[in-house]
Amino acid sequence: MTNPKDVTPAGGASRAWILDNLSELVTCVSADPESVRRGVAVGVADGRVAAIAALPELRSRLPDAPVLDGAGGVLTPGFVDSHSHAVFGAYRAHEFGLRTRGVPYMEIARRGGGIVASVRHVRALSEDALVELTLPRLSECLRYGTTTLEVKSGYGLTVADELKMLRAIRRLDRAQPVDLVPTFLGAHAVPPEYRERRDRYVELVIQEMIPAVAAGGLARFCDVFLEPGVFDREEARRILEAGMAHGLAPKLHADELENSGGAELAAELGAVSADHLGAISEAGIQALAGSSTVATLLPATLLLLGRRTYAPARRLADAGATLALATDFNPGSSPAPGLPLILTLACSQMGLDPLEAVVAATRGGAQALRLEDGRGTITAGAPADLVLWRVPDHREIPYHVGVNRVSTVWKRGTPVVSG
Ligand code: NIG
Ligand code: FE
Repeated sequence: MTNPKDVTPAGGASRAWILDNLSELVTCVSADPESVRRGVAVGVADGRVAAIAALPELRSRLPDAPVLDGAGGVLTPGFVDSHSHAVFGAYRAHEFGLRTRGVPYMEIARRGGGIVASVRHVRALSEDALVELTLPRLSECLRYGTTTLEVKSGYGLTVADELKMLRAIRRLDRAQPVDLVPTFLGAHAVPPEYRERRDRYVELVIQEMIPAVAAGGLARFCDVFLEPGVFDREEARRILEAGMAHGLAPKLHADELENSGGAELAAELGAVSADHLGAISEAGIQALAGSSTVATLLPATLLLLGRRTYAPARRLADAGATLALATDFNPGSSPAPGLPLILTLACSQMGLDPLEAVVAATRGGAQALRLEDGRGTITAGAPADLVLWRVPDHREIPYHVGVNRVSTVWKRGTPVVSG
């Protein structure tokens, strides 16, 4: 596949073009109705959005630019999927089978399945093999409209295997169009060889893994799975503080299945995001609302785990928290590469309106990754990471449940998926 990130300014990316005949252009600057523009076209030049205006004005600003036909579709920014575990060895559908017979996720983990099963897979694979296995998954993400994807380590759990995963992510970023943002998640689980001496594993993460990851410039964020039976609050605090001391901004898997005060800890540390929040408390909602920590909601996970209740998105939004929606793409609890289904869940189960959901999956995702180049919005100067949808109204993006209505995806102004 062509990779627009490799295109020099003299190549395709410098070409200007205009996209007209759109039913709606959703800027995603906010979840207010003004974000839905009608009667406008978009001009792109040098891989960036040049302007949003009526066609005659764009024609005079970009006189040589060809005018492409939007076919009456909706244009949104590319999705910024801010939480994934997309590098892994194999899917774990047999665990899904067990769960349908009533075996809980954490019980499967105690029996040696779960995250630790994926750790066995990743340890047995070379960096090259991880790259090869992950490439087609990233093409799938792209076909669902994702143009930026956060990817975590956390299935290696030795110094060498965590570094191997992060190097694979770096190579994958260069090898295909989706921008990958790497996060170090050495504290995803205590590996079996440290089960009787978990303190030593926490020390390994702090003393060896974090310095090695930072020295290699291999991650932007440090994350911890804070959950009863995995890591506790004090362990999470120590690991995230060690990450911060090495320039890795904190993120936290918080209050996914049970409440552990994770949202409060994330807010206290000034974390970039607190993710999951299926079991957040009222105090946690208030803590996030009063902080800059983004509340990242991952409803496909709770869907696949068979949970009946979802994170309180409406209450979080009404309290003033910034929301992101993401896939949590992983082989255990969320083998979901695309955001359209997540938007459906956000609207039908979590009380968001379709525009709020689209904004949470674009601008919200960019905020959850501290990307400040205009990504996740269609505004002048933002990267031209754009998705044309084969629908006349943005509400139809979550409405067509389980259907992919993506027509065309552009990365930095170059078409990378063509309907
Ligand atoms: O975000 N919560 C922890 N990690 C993943 C699950 C990973 C797995 O089961 O392999 C999650 O849901
Ligand atoms: Fe996760």
